[in-house]
Amino acid sequence: MTIFNTNSSQVAQQQTEQRLVIQHLRSVTASLTTTAGSDVVKGLTQTPKTLPPRYFYDDRGSELFEQICELPEYYVTRTETAILQECAGEIAEITGKCELVELGSGSSTKTRILLDAKQNLGLPLRYIPIDVSAGMLENSAKQLLSDYPKLEISALAGTYELALQQLPVKQLPSRMIAFIGSTLGNLNAQESEMFFSQITQALHPGEYFLLGVDLQKPKHILEAAYNDSQGVTAAFNLNMLEHINWLYNGNFDTVQFEHWAFYNETENQIEMHLRSLQQQTVNLSALNLSVNFAHDETIMTEISRKFDIATLNQQLRAHGLVTQKVWTDKNNWFGLLLCQLK
Ligand code: AVI
Repeated sequence: MTIFNTNSSQVAQQQTEQRLVIQHLRSVTASLTTTAGSDVVKGLTQTPKTLPPRYFYDDRGSELFEQICELPEYYVTRTETAILQECAGEIAEITGKCELVELGSGSSTKTRILLDAKQNLGLPLRYIPIDVSAGMLENSAKQLLSDYPKLEISALAGTYELALQQLPVKQLPSRMIAFIGSTLGNLNAQESEMFFSQITQALHPGEYFLLGVDLQKPKHILEAAYNDSQGVTAAFNLNMLEHINWLYNGNFDTVQFEHWAFYNETENQIEMHLRSLQQQTVNLSALNLSVNFAHDETIMTEISRKFDIATLNQQLRAHGLVTQKVWTDKNNWFGLLLCQLK
């Protein structure tokens, strides 16, 4: 037997580490089929030009997104949090002894509301956060473990797609996959369909899917949320160019582009673009790419779709996901749907 000379804080740390597993996922086929930056080359050589929203999130981008969530005009985060605070007890009662899988867990702030509700009912706590940022997963997991002494965490660092195919073996009778924050809105219709199929494949009949979505509302409210008066959303959008410069040795000059966001009422989506303020050529030397921009030409960086609950229910049902309950706020601005796989 090995006897360690430990003080009480070391014991607490060892106990915490025993309750945490972090798995780093890697696709076997990805390296064969995609080269780094091929999505940037594709997006910048097509008309109209686009860039994938995943390039928003370097350290600065993640920090700016946290600031967006606090903006007075950006009602999304605070409205969803308020709904969760109202209905978490009911969700815990309906789902019972159930593991919580969270896609895009980030700092896991809203997760605490669900964990508190389970804890209050004396239910076992097991959490499977999934995020591309391993650093973020580790930090927030350690914080959660010290705040919830009975919690067990099995974290997955990787994309949703990979994680949903490789979820750890279930240790409680049921499972709920949570996809909150209206991130569904950042997927186009085709991507959403694929995503719902992946959810269906990851769940067993009777298990749950919790979905938070931003709802359709008057244009002026939506446009204000994506054109805030402090310019944080503009900085977030422009930071994508800095991130791409860093990754691919580029020379985007952010002063020569401006943020442009508007609500497309036909498609029910906010569109975020970066507009070129002059005719210019940008080089991304690591990608061997030279891109010409006309004056006023734009790059679309994000869509943020706004939903109607009846239509969404039909789409979910087509994938076998039956909505059990919907919670909204008093303005009907945001919806939280609890679905069950039939
Ligand atoms: C992450 N996602 C749900 C945000 C949204 O509202 O679509 C991203 C964002 N873009 C600008 N502001 C917030």
